[in-house]
Amino acid sequence: MADDLKSPPKPLDATHEEPMGRATFTAFTNATEEDWQKVIAANGVFAKGHVDRVLTHLNLLKGDCGGFPIDRLEHSLQTATRAHRAGMDEEYVVCALLHDIGDTLGVFNHPDIAAAILKPFVSGQNFWMVANHGIFQGYYFWHHIGLDRNAREQFRGHPAFEYTAQFCHLYDQPAFDGAYDSMPLEAFVPMLHRVMGRPKQSMYLKKSGEAAW
Ligand SMILES: [Fe+2]
Ligand SMILES: [Fe+2]
Repeated sequence: MADDLKSPPKPLDATHEEPMGRATFTAFTNATEEDWQKVIAANGVFAKGHVDRVLTHLNLLKGDCGGFPIDRLEHSLQTATRAHRAGMDEEYVVCALLHDIGDTLGVFNHPDIAAAILKPFVSGQNFWMVANHGIFQGYYFWHHIGLDRNAREQFRGHPAFEYTAQFCHLYDQPAFDGAYDSMPLEAFVPMLHRVMGRPKQSMYLKKSGEAAW
């Protein structure tokens, strides 16, 4: 533990590119239009690295099995591969790939992390599916760990209930097969870029639909 504290974690790789240089304000109250142009220019570059940073984070799941038969990255690849091979569209496949990306930071609420990352880029239905998949997945094992496997019933009647139940039944819960031939992560990278290239909804979208950066 003491050794860990001596070496702080390395920052994520970033471009650190500032095409117009850096703003000079000391507080937002004294920032100028020119300052904000500099921030917007740098954020434009930073935003282009978004998918790479998501991939870096997804890769943190590699090698961590947490007692499961396969590691968390292989489970993610297998879930996405099964959805892809079943003919689901790219947005759905990307949701399948990232659905457990929050395992590292959200030990007690992992679906919220994936849902937050995907929210600007996916439909309301897919967002709801990712955000609630943990409770729906519970149907398949919560009775073994002292929880109520039928907790998903609180959502019965919701428009995305069956959609989410199907995700867990067809793609998430069977994706622990060590013999399954999953597609490599590289195969999903173009899909990630297509789905996450432009936000559909965000507080940073202007009325024109264009992102502020
Ligand atoms: Fe999950
Ligand atoms: Fe999962």
